[in-house]
Amino acid sequence: MKIENIVRPTLSGLKDYVPGKPIEDVQREYGITDVIKLASNENPLGASPKAIAAMLEEVANRSHLYPDGSSYELIHSLAAKFGVTPGQIFMESGLDGVITKLGLAFLDPGDEVIISQYSFPAYESIVLKMNAVPILIPQTADYRIHIEGIFKAVTSKTKMICLCNPNNPTGTIYTQSEFERLLAAVPSDVLVISDEAYYEFVDDPTYPQTLTYLPKAPNLLVMRTFSKVYGLASVRIGYAVGDEGLIKCLLKVREAFAVNRIAQAGALAAMDDDDFMRETISANRKGREQYYRAFDRLGIRYYPSQTNFIFFEVNRPGVEIYEAMLKMGVIIRPLIAQGLPHHLRISIGTEEQNKRAISALEKVLNQAP
Ligand SMILES: Cc1ncc(COP(=O)(O)O)c(C=O)c1O
Repeated sequence: MKIENIVRPTLSGLKDYVPGKPIEDVQREYGITDVIKLASNENPLGASPKAIAAMLEEVANRSHLYPDGSSYELIHSLAAKFGVTPGQIFMESGLDGVITKLGLAFLDPGDEVIISQYSFPAYESIVLKMNAVPILIPQTADYRIHIEGIFKAVTSKTKMICLCNPNNPTGTIYTQSEFERLLAAVPSDVLVISDEAYYEFVDDPTYPQTLTYLPKAPNLLVMRTFSKVYGLASVRIGYAVGDEGLIKCLLKVREAFAVNRIAQAGALAAMDDDDFMRETISANRKGREQYYRAFDRLGIRYYPSQTNFIFFEVNRPGVEIYEAMLKMGVIIRPLIAQGLPHHLRISIGTEEQNKRAISALEKVLNQAP
């Protein structure tokens, strides 16, 4: 058998996605037990206790039943919260799942998709899988998405624009006025995707509240997730909000039971736990300050973050820093695969975890390269 005669040719150009290294891998490979992971922007406080109780109850009593494929209760709760109709919400197993379905529903071979350089890799990945064409737009010198560069790149072949705000891995945002300029410039049959995985962590008042633009911009889709501020990364649940017609297209390519019961129960309970959410956001803000102080002291260049991670720059290969920190049981994220060999990304952990990461980083920087 010749695999190359069977597999779709477009897959040969795809790089494997390398996620944050799991704690278990580091324990196995380095023989250390005490490992912390600050590499996937997870919630260091865990999940909301209310969500955990709801999920346990679901596991105990209804593990044998298929989930509600329409996520009726959750979608109705979100719709009420956002002031949209239930038909405007598309629920998936993680925001990653939404991104895949965007490709299946909307991309044909040859369609152009405009993506910022140094952004979340899943956009380019689905574009290539669909044999469509990613058009990468350079960022500004301060690692922000270059909005004008993006809307000026629109051609008659452009099908979709993938925006990430705040952007992963740089932690930066574009402003409401930039967003409005983009919406005004983009033809109405080009989809504008706004990935807001880190929405809840933003405190910059110039950040655009994109849901308010939906009535006037039916080509806009806003995507959010329960993985980050709600601490539900393991159960995989995320969603998109947009025009009912667009949501119907997404539903056509979705599996009937895409979102499991445990995730639905957890998300519903988490939405009600304002205390946990406030605690998470406040701890994250303190954690960001903790890193800023340390980076200032160590002379490390960093980019102020609107998320639960920080993007920073080192004067030697980032992979060296990453590997040396792994040996000390601290997992962070190198960015060489994204074309950033001297940058790294670190997730905000608990105060203790941040202390340990800072001390490991300081030790590594004091060693000869
Ligand atoms: C910008 C961005 N979009 C989407 C995702 C995927 O989120 P989910 O866990 O909901 O699939 C992530 C996860 O890190 C992310 O950073």
